[in-house]
Amino acid sequence: MEFFDLIEARYSCKKYADKQVSKEELEMIFEAGRLAPTAKNSQEQRIYVVQSEEGLEKIDSLTPCRYGAKTVLIFACDVNGEYIYEGTNQTSGNEDISIVATHVMLAAKNIGVESCWINKFNPIKCAEIFDLPKNERVVLLMDLGYADKEGGKPLINHFKRKDITEYVIYK
Ligand SMILES: Cc1cc2nc3c(=O)[nH]c(=O)nc-3n(C[C@H](O)[C@H](O)[C@H](O)COP(=O)(O)O)c2cc1C
Repeated sequence: MEFFDLIEARYSCKKYADKQVSKEELEMIFEAGRLAPTAKNSQEQRIYVVQSEEGLEKIDSLTPCRYGAKTVLIFACDVNGEYIYEGTNQTSGNEDISIVATHVMLAAKNIGVESCWINKFNPIKCAEIFDLPKNERVVLLMDLGYADKEGGKPLINHFKRKDITEYVIYK
């Protein structure tokens, strides 16, 4: 897809069809994540792919936002790889992982796979129930799948964006 058509077409899907994303599609999607930039090129992202019944039940115990997706990604950050901003405690992990996740989201859309970014969950509880290593911080969850033909269309918020003049300030 042409770049602007792609970013216009991407939306948060909130009802998925009963169809799994294939391994080949996932590989293509993850390649886009692999090419994402990270601070100091530290590539501290970790992506856990949840597809088993047991794993999806755990996701459902964390959030109401799976919307029937048969694949959910857990994006985590290896805290040992984070860049620390000079003179502060501020770290780059959430930014790095968000860029990776954005690449993933757009690459998915490019091959017809819909997504929804989720932050309505407790990341500490998520790390616990999936038994993630102690050096990893969960940043976000992402549903992946095919849109349900009836209810999987963009919601009203997708069409509501501020005018550029409301947030671009020339100094
Ligand atoms: C950081 C972030 C967190 C979000 N968390 C949730 C969530 O927990 N549940 C949900 O249904 N949608 C979530 N969304 C989707 C937003 O509601 C959605 O992107 C926004 O309303 C614009 O709609 P669109 O993505 O269809 O263009 C999240 C999006 C972002 C970027």
